[in-house]
Amino acid sequence: MTICLRQDNIHVCYVSIEDCVKQGLLPGYMGLLDDGERERLDRLAEHRARTEFLVTRALCRVMLSQFVDRPPSAWRFDVNAYGKPCLPDDDPASSIDFNLSNTKELVVCAIGTSCHLGIDIEPYTQARPVEAMAKRFFASAEVDQVMRAAPADRMARFIEIWTLKEAFIKAWGTGMSLPLDTFSFDTTGFRPVPYFHDARFGDPAHWRFHAWDNPPAHRTALAIDMGRPSGSLRVDLRHAIPRLWGPAGQLDVQGPGGCFTLDESDETE
Ligand SMILES: CC(C)(COP(=O)(O)OP(=O)(O)OC[C@H]1O[C@@H](n2cnc3c(N)ncnc32)[C@H](O)[C@@H]1OP(=O)(O)O)[C@@H](O)C(=O)NCCC(=O)NCCS
Repeated sequence: MTICLRQDNIHVCYVSIEDCVKQGLLPGYMGLLDDGERERLDRLAEHRARTEFLVTRALCRVMLSQFVDRPPSAWRFDVNAYGKPCLPDDDPASSIDFNLSNTKELVVCAIGTSCHLGIDIEPYTQARPVEAMAKRFFASAEVDQVMRAAPADRMARFIEIWTLKEAFIKAWGTGMSLPLDTFSFDTTGFRPVPYFHDARFGDPAHWRFHAWDNPPAHRTALAIDMGRPSGSLRVDLRHAIPRLWGPAGQLDVQGPGGCFTLDESDETE
């Protein structure tokens, strides 16, 4: 089995849920599910939740099949003690990590190898009591970053920090069971700077973080624990539709993508 995924390359792919629905792709996606996923789908009562679930499963499976010689329906998944989906330890491709995030409009999946990944996408538009949430969940330096902003800008400051925090806990794997003030981000510079207030997270230099806007209304953050201090990472972004064409399926690219490089020096500026 060959894994065509470089250690220094992370792939991030967005899918518009509406595009998949309009193109009638959901019945095909249903055929990819294993028994456990089908049971989970059956338990989802809301139409929107079912649709999101199908699109995320198709995206993840088709994306994995772009890097490993295996059909999208052949992947089997495990979850850690906190619900983070992963490849089973006995899968020869288990060095691959991936992570998913959903909004009503977009789903996103990040994939890499020999690292731990977390990704989060959030809409700027969802009403939230951001001052109260910041005071409840954020470290004090992050509360200051939100409260120093003009009231009209506080939602944006909050979302910038919140997405990074979610990406971090998703890479770490423990989800919301991790107190959100045990680490913090300074988002005032070009690239977010992490501060770890708990020794178990190790050295921040082993991590890379990046966050960006998805115009018109979303923000994404990506966290990567490389487990090693040096080296740059290339992150490729694309918008695509998962298609079940051919043995591996295809990510049918929709419009221009992008890429950026994350260097150690960026974190320490
Ligand atoms: C992970 C978590 C922060 C995601 O929050 P969210 O903003 O609502 O959701 P997102 O859309 O960004 O991400 C959801 C996806 O993250 C992934 N995920 C779930 N748990 C995860 C975890 N612990 N770490 C990383 N990723 C996780 C899943 O793929 C999930 O999508 P799915 O349910 O369709 O498979 C939140 O669900 C959480 O804290 N879960 C942990 C719950 C827990 O501790 N359970 C313990 C008993 S099982």
